[in-house]
Amino acid sequence: MSRVIVSPSILAADFSDFAKAVSETEDSGADWLHLDVMDGSFVPDITFGSLLVSALRQKTKIFFDVHLMIEKPWQFIKKFAEAGADAITLHLESELHLHKSLSEIRGLGIKAGAAIVPSTPVSMLEEVLPFVDLVLIMTVNPGFGGQILIPECLEKVKKLAKMRTQAGLDFRISVDGGINEITAEKAKEAGADVLVVGSAFFHNSDKKGFIKHLLS
Ligand code: DX5
Ligand code: ZN
Repeated sequence: MSRVIVSPSILAADFSDFAKAVSETEDSGADWLHLDVMDGSFVPDITFGSLLVSALRQKTKIFFDVHLMIEKPWQFIKKFAEAGADAITLHLESELHLHKSLSEIRGLGIKAGAAIVPSTPVSMLEEVLPFVDLVLIMTVNPGFGGQILIPECLEKVKKLAKMRTQAGLDFRISVDGGINEITAEKAKEAGADVLVVGSAFFHNSDKKGFIKHLLS
């Protein structure tokens, strides 16, 4: 497995200036940009859809890590792929036919991710692990930025990392929610290799230094 990837979450950026958020992310040296899509149903709030992803695609070549926190995500796979997503991550809790949707995503030539909320055990993902490029372990309950990481979720990361080794697979393990300088270290130790960072990145005046620190 190659080095850790940092994926700043645009959810914590200034919503009146996403173009600035994109250039701040590029300038910081972060590898990915995490785009949180919320529908007001799977999670309480609403953010944006594929039109915004498509508009931002015109501004940057950075890897778009799209996290769909929506009901019926299968209806939107093609739209987000066409909009320029490089990875689409769907929640197990809102996708009955996860194998089918993950295969559809890969079939579109992009990376496929499966996400689980804190109350879902990692064992629920066992059968789909050969079909994912990324597993996103929510380390807070989804819906809002700026929450405190639930420590038990890092135990899930450890379990999943073990499952990955035992199965001889090489998908990435992403952690999302409450990641900062301190929790990032714990997440890395547990086996995470993608760090999604919202508030701790966008509210930091030294973004370059912050990314350098997370990558060290
Ligand atoms: C929460 C989102 C996260 C969020 C993380 O539902 O999935 O990506 O932006 O924000 P922080 O890092 O502030 O917890
Ligand atoms: Zn997210």
